[in-house]
Amino acid sequence: MKIAPSLLSCDFSVMGSEIERMDKAGADWMHLDVMDGHFVPNITFGAPVIKWVRPYTKKPFDVHLMISEPLRYIDDFAAAGADIITFHVECDSDINATIDKIRENGVLPGLVIKPATPAEAVFPYLDKLALVLVMTVEPGFGGQSFMADMLPKVRAIKEECARRGIELPVEADGGIGEATIAQTAAAGVDVCVAGTAVFKADDPAKAIAALQAY
Ligand code: DX5
Ligand code: ZN
Repeated sequence: MKIAPSLLSCDFSVMGSEIERMDKAGADWMHLDVMDGHFVPNITFGAPVIKWVRPYTKKPFDVHLMISEPLRYIDDFAAAGADIITFHVECDSDINATIDKIRENGVLPGLVIKPATPAEAVFPYLDKLALVLVMTVEPGFGGQSFMADMLPKVRAIKEECARRGIELPVEADGGIGEATIAQTAAAGVDVCVAGTAVFKADDPAKAIAALQAY
């Protein structure tokens, strides 16, 4: 299992060294949660901050856009150093145009579904995507309880990909830690985001290794 620590749970006054700390602890990717206070009821940071912290690791930057109009900002996030940009199928931008814009920038595109959105919502785009992200909490905040009833959506996406003969990694985000990783792995998830479980651990390296073992 690949583990992407969510920087939402880090000390933002020293974000660069928090990224270095996660790099040394064995993180596979860095997960950066961008919130606009409109698509979700919380505000975090934008492309300028990502640009400033980009030099602190060589690991891939997995940028999760929880914003209403991602298409308007794709060039900015690509220029800031995103390797993967995921955005919500529930957003107001044109989905195909946004995927194309991400690809034009040489970045890998992923679509995200909120808990109320069915797996089928991403089916029309599967052939163009590099990743699907299934939310296992309501987006907006770290530290929420894992929603196990989201896992059948992971299986449905994996089955549809297999039917089409495509290999697409599925990422899960929200409430993942030692108590929930086994069922998440069993559902076929390839990459897990973990905020609280890693940042609040006494030994983040040990916490990441324990999750990666699945
Ligand atoms: C929630 C974010 C998550 C969040 C995960 O909107 O997308 O990435 O930080 O945090 P935990 O692991 O604490 O649920
Ligand atoms: Zn996220």
